[in-house]
Amino acid sequence: MELPVGGGMRRSASHTSLSESDDFELTRLLSKPRINVERQRSFDDRSLSDVSHSGGYGRGGAFDGMYSPGGGLRSLVGTPASSALHSFEPHPIVGDAWEALRRSLVFFRGQPLGTVAAVDHASEEVLNYDQVFVRDFVPSALAFLMNGEPDIVKNFLLKTLLLQGWEKKVDRFKLGEGAMPASFKVMHDAKKGVETLHADFGESAIGRVAPVDSGFWWIILLRAYTKSTGDFTLAETPECQKGMRLILSLCLSEGFDTFPTLLCADGCCMIDRRMGVYGYPIEIQALFFMALRCALQMLKHDNEGKEFVEKIATRLHALSYHMRSYFWLDFQQLNDIYRYKTEEYSHTAVNKFNVIPDSIPDWLFDFMPCQGGFFIGNVSPARMDFRWFALGNMIAIVSSLATPEQSVAIMDLIEERWEELIGEMPLKICYPAIENHEWRIVTGCDPKNTRWSYHNGGSWPVLLWLLTAACIKTGRPQIARRAIDLAERRLLKDGWPEYYDGKLGRYVGKQARKFQTWSIAGYLVAKMMLEDPSHIGMISLEDDKAMLKPVLKRSASWTN
Ligand code: GLC
Repeated sequence: MELPVGGGMRRSASHTSLSESDDFELTRLLSKPRINVERQRSFDDRSLSDVSHSGGYGRGGAFDGMYSPGGGLRSLVGTPASSALHSFEPHPIVGDAWEALRRSLVFFRGQPLGTVAAVDHASEEVLNYDQVFVRDFVPSALAFLMNGEPDIVKNFLLKTLLLQGWEKKVDRFKLGEGAMPASFKVMHDAKKGVETLHADFGESAIGRVAPVDSGFWWIILLRAYTKSTGDFTLAETPECQKGMRLILSLCLSEGFDTFPTLLCADGCCMIDRRMGVYGYPIEIQALFFMALRCALQMLKHDNEGKEFVEKIATRLHALSYHMRSYFWLDFQQLNDIYRYKTEEYSHTAVNKFNVIPDSIPDWLFDFMPCQGGFFIGNVSPARMDFRWFALGNMIAIVSSLATPEQSVAIMDLIEERWEELIGEMPLKICYPAIENHEWRIVTGCDPKNTRWSYHNGGSWPVLLWLLTAACIKTGRPQIARRAIDLAERRLLKDGWPEYYDGKLGRYVGKQARKFQTWSIAGYLVAKMMLEDPSHIGMISLEDDKAMLKPVLKRSASWTN
């Protein structure tokens, strides 16, 4: 297990040592055949165009310099700092994207606090798109961090922490203390001349869904802030330590669970409507895993923190085993499930969850390439949701929930199934769409989630930043470049839509907002990471050798 020194991320007098000790294990990258290695030169020595056009991202120097100080060059506010510094020829739409991102800024008592979900003046129905969503703010935050503007992120982290302290109620029922809001809004009282915050923890949200992902994103962002700025003091404050502990208490409590995965209700994450994403959805499991690992780096080993550190270590051990073994699907595993016997009792059962082979959907047999694999959507008794979900799989790569072999397999799958998963606009939120009777039953006849639209097989540009991070982590930036090229052909012209519809993602989504902030920020983050791969250190976690590796050749040889 990655043991934090002192209490938190490895700290030393020189911040640059962060990069040596943490997360990006160079040797592994160096041994990959796809990667063009050149360790001798430091990142600063070589020209950036060198990196971006060579296709060789595994160059050691880039990853050596994960800590980028927030001083000097970062005063170039308004200009993407990396482009300015390295005389990169930015794509013409980068400037527009930055302007649009800044237009989405929300101020609270004079300080920037977040970004609204969408600045769509043409849209008649604002709903809650004028709010700051915690999950939507993540790509914005990363863009600002990468551009050397950490203050807004710090402000966001602190203010959301205050919101966490509120008493949260839906009707007469009180939510857990650690719950973080899905979104919040700045209210202006013109008469009194005061500004106040109003948060939504699910009590106003459509369908009254609680955002299980918000707390995880908060922890992940706190680490990103710390890694990016080298400012440990924020994470070390009693407030942040308590905030983390409260979030963790919600998901580490003991109960009736037989699995280490986290049991959730429908609509608890990015897919916040009924879409059959309940039980143990991959998105939440991957974020849970990542947040646990981030917290492990930041929690102090003091009286209050110690208990959590131990619990996290135990849970991570079990969670990684469970996910890597039972959620993982490749050609071999599919063939094994296809031949499963059912009704097996006792601990010798091979088909532990009693999955009936007839429940394997037809599309999957053709979809599964010989080389490649992915984490399926959900696993619970007699149920495997075989759909592909992009966010969970990308987070699995960046957090190293996926083993190095599994990460490579996921990227292989994306390349092999490019048309299905990327099509004309990156990237499908899930695949395939559900239709007809199944759509009626699973979505409750949701007219917004008709086949190949919105959450039901729609294409979401925001996911581009996660794809790019996964590409860089696995040493395959050319995949990201291809996807970004596609996005650049349409995004500005189409007014930065929230999502696209159709099997290939060719049409601007039926009810898609324009100037959707995370589409804009997601694009910028993808661009900045590709220009300067060292940025990945903010969000990437290195493979942890001590965690239990699954037996990749499963069938009857599965072991406990
Ligand atoms: C939609 C999305 C959700 C997002 C929100 C604001 O509800 O499903 O993931 O956070 O819009 O953009």
